[in-house]
Amino acid sequence: MTGGPSGTDPAAMGLVEALRGRRTHKAYGDTPVDRATIAELVELARWAPNHHLTEPWRFRVLGPQALQALKDAGPADKARKYDRAPTLIVASVVIDDDPRVAQEDRDAAAAAVYGLLLAAHARGLAGYWRTPETLLQPKGREAVGLPEEENALGLIHLGPPRQDVRTPERRPVDQILEFLP
Ligand SMILES: Cc1cc2nc3c(=O)[nH]c(=O)nc-3n(C[C@H](O)[C@H](O)[C@H](O)COP(=O)(O)O)c2cc1C
Repeated sequence: MTGGPSGTDPAAMGLVEALRGRRTHKAYGDTPVDRATIAELVELARWAPNHHLTEPWRFRVLGPQALQALKDAGPADKARKYDRAPTLIVASVVIDDDPRVAQEDRDAAAAAVYGLLLAAHARGLAGYWRTPETLLQPKGREAVGLPEEENALGLIHLGPPRQDVRTPERRPVDQILEFLP
């Protein structure tokens, strides 16, 4: 495997380190993630577990036109937030007619987004899963070309890290884990 965009070799980062070390970043350097790297990240994301292999996840990388349309679709005072990261990807899920399948597909697509974030982290990229309200509204959906049969899961921010990020506390494992008799 070749080195990542910022010199990090993804093959060198172990899974445990990736799981523990991935953080939400809100400040980024200016260099966009190149198309080949984005395609590599999506290629990895699609290996998420997925009942019946519906492969319900979709990813749309915003170009300047789509970014402007998204800014215009929401409140003016929130527009600058979209400039934090140089690369923005809309993650969405195709909605199945059967509510049970739709639920499972959403779970699978969320797992795919997480996979993408982990793969980005392993390549030395910073990431952020954001759910701006505008993306859930008709105008925002239209701005990023979301068809009626898809729901947005979020706006994935990617780019070079610009600062160290605080690690938020997690609950102790014994509070969230139970061994049943
Ligand atoms: C479905 C989902 C939606 C999120 N939406 C937002 C958001 O809109 N704004 C935000 O600041 N963080 C958002 N986050 C990021 C979480 O706040 C973040 O993961 C959490 O604070 C833990 O930090 P960590 O990612 O560094 O472990 C979202 C995370 C998920 C999984």
